[in-house]
Amino acid sequence: MTVLNPYKILLNGDYSTLIVVLSAATFFRSMCSIIGYNGKNSAAPLIVDSLKRMEYRGYDSVGVATFDSGNILVRKGIGKVAEVNKNLNLGQMSGNIGIGHTRWATHGGVTDKNAHPHSACKKDIAVVHNGIIENYKELKEELMSAGHTFVSETDSEVIAHILEIHYNKGIKEAMIETCKRLRGNYAFVAVFQDGAIGGARYEEPLVVGVTNDGYFVSSDVLGFLEYTDKAIFLENGDICVVDNSKLEIFDSQGRPIAHPITQVAWELGDIDKGKYAHHTLKEINEQQLTVIHAGRQDEAVMNKFCDVLVNAKDIYITGSGTSHHSALIFKHMLARFGKIRAETVVSSESKYALASMDSNSVLIAISQSGETADVLDSVRLARDQGAKILSIVNVTTSSLARTSDACLSTNCGPEIGVAATKSFTSQLALIYNITDRICKNCLATEKAEFVIAVENVISNSASSIRAAAQIKDASDVYLLGRSLHYPIALEGALKMKELAYVHAEGIAAGELKHGPLALMEKNTVVIILNPHDATFNDTISNAHEIKARGATVIGISDRKEDIYDYWIEIPHLKEEAYYPIVEVIPLQILAYQMALAKNVDPDYPRNLAKSVTVR
Ligand code: G6P
Repeated sequence: MTVLNPYKILLNGDYSTLIVVLSAATFFRSMCSIIGYNGKNSAAPLIVDSLKRMEYRGYDSVGVATFDSGNILVRKGIGKVAEVNKNLNLGQMSGNIGIGHTRWATHGGVTDKNAHPHSACKKDIAVVHNGIIENYKELKEELMSAGHTFVSETDSEVIAHILEIHYNKGIKEAMIETCKRLRGNYAFVAVFQDGAIGGARYEEPLVVGVTNDGYFVSSDVLGFLEYTDKAIFLENGDICVVDNSKLEIFDSQGRPIAHPITQVAWELGDIDKGKYAHHTLKEINEQQLTVIHAGRQDEAVMNKFCDVLVNAKDIYITGSGTSHHSALIFKHMLARFGKIRAETVVSSESKYALASMDSNSVLIAISQSGETADVLDSVRLARDQGAKILSIVNVTTSSLARTSDACLSTNCGPEIGVAATKSFTSQLALIYNITDRICKNCLATEKAEFVIAVENVISNSASSIRAAAQIKDASDVYLLGRSLHYPIALEGALKMKELAYVHAEGIAAGELKHGPLALMEKNTVVIILNPHDATFNDTISNAHEIKARGATVIGISDRKEDIYDYWIEIPHLKEEAYYPIVEVIPLQILAYQMALAKNVDPDYPRNLAKSVTVR
């Protein structure tokens, strides 16, 4: 097998994905990375490598199953890939066919038994699954009354048992019959005792990697991009079987489907941490380049995007988490510089808010992964009402990108750290570009200055590091900003929660007197986003009000003020609209450093996942 150099490969990746289940369900939903391999090479080492690369999708337990000489071997355990591999020698399992899994569970249940792969009673099948089988309880009851014995508490195990029932009809039929019984969302890969693998997807990603001597079936192109840049993106409802080195893709009726092979078309900077201790740190540092890359857009797509936008009767902008904060900035920029009115809707609220769209409406969906379930739901809702869909995504092969009327890419390369950093500043850089196009270059003259300023704040991180040491034990951190700085206050608070596990709240500075002032006391830490722009005087008054109550004030500003207990300096910008993209970086560094000080792994925050593909 040819091993491609990951530094040179062209990637078009769906490298995001995974997870989450927030309801207090009693079963343990798994959201995870899945991989299958069927080819001429030893499967286990390839699978272990893939799992390491996709570990950011879920990281509480790991397992591998291989097929060798008529038997299916299964090894699995709790822990990260490196640890489980060391304990169980996963990479040394024999056979050229196999499957693997990294898991993330929501409620307890991080046990060896709940780790995937799952087998059924006869041990002739093993399955790895990502998603939620909503009707698993009724299926389990039915299977148990038919004599099946379950060993795990997962929803996923039902898949193995149903496959087992239909296995005597052949693998293709077993896959079709099993998918018919499942409700919810899933991507699963199964290995069968006669040496074939089968995969199926519904509302969870699954992609086939095509090599000269075999196939991968993976939840993410990162699972195989070291070996091939040729991918087949399966559509919802597709089923595939790889048997005797032959790939067959078909629909739920067994009708063959021909999908094109996509040459991954995205330059992969580096999916390794390189010289950095963490992906998050690497990604923070990459921003000096990625904000430039965000400006490289296909002219025709950019024109179409702007045309649709300016001609819309009404405009809604949506996103989740960090991407929602970009939406807030976009709304502000459109109003201020484009004189265009838009509404923002956090994607999880869209079903209550997007009720009056029509064919003259536009929904702009912003997402790093392009796979966030809430975002895709918003798109579906808008589409059903006839609206056009514009999107800003990082993963250009994602479901969101593929469903949009025009999609602009943030072009920042794979983001592995669970907390968004470079994808956020790339979204902003792109939003500024779009705004600049719409306002006929009203921002262009000072474009270079924010790029230099980004470089500057990254190389002068000492004051953020010092401030992190001072506030690492704070139990509550408030972040204040007005105007464009308010979404950055929200984003900074999100970074502190995600990375440093600190209760943090972003507040519109003018709202201080309407409640938050009651919380200001000696042990409170307040970070003030306070560049010397139109918001400066009002915000400095807030700093005085806070200081008078004994709280610690950290100022992020181009101007030193005595009122600050700690000053994090940022460069002065002639175009004040660019401050958000610069001032968020010290907040990312601060949160990262606080995580380190608390001995928390910033790349893999507890209970979170990179992209939430379930509701
Ligand atoms: C998850 C991640 C966040 C991210 C959000 C939206 O919650 O942990 O970091 O901002 O999803 O992700 P998206 O890929 O749609 O931008």
